[in-house]
Amino acid sequence: MALLPILQYPDPRLHTVARPVSAFDARLRTLAADMLQTMYESGGIGLAATQVDVHERLIVMDISEERNQPLVIVNPEIVWHSEASKLNEEGCLSVPAVYDRVERFESVHVRVWDEHGAQRTIEAQDVMAICIQHEMDHLLGKVFVEYLSPLKRDRIKKKMRKARREDAH
Ligand code: NI
Repeated sequence: MALLPILQYPDPRLHTVARPVSAFDARLRTLAADMLQTMYESGGIGLAATQVDVHERLIVMDISEERNQPLVIVNPEIVWHSEASKLNEEGCLSVPAVYDRVERFESVHVRVWDEHGAQRTIEAQDVMAICIQHEMDHLLGKVFVEYLSPLKRDRIKKKMRKARREDAH
């Protein structure tokens, strides 16, 4: 297994639209395992392949307290969502130390495949529903800060660029 570098906002590669996974092979399983390790190491609850500069429809998640319920999600499609939506505070491994409120559907049903090619439908609510919608946005090239006002977003971009310059010194 290997730790993968996570793209940091506003890296333009975060805006790439991912293509569907076409092969459920050893390469996919290695990538998913590396992404899980990277996610656990970074303390996140979800990571999309886009964030590690692989532009395929692959997500890993673990929303359990014990961090022992890894989930690999391939080619997710929302097949149903609730009428109701809700504002929740979100963060992202690609935008460290930034948290803000984003509106998401309260619950979604998502048709997914696992890394072995088995299909199922996840009925997601609460944190699971928020996380899966956040990660699916990444696959469309969308970072959560794009839901915020242009003013807030500019402030975040400046903060991220400044943090990077200070890191480099
Ligand atoms: Ni994210």
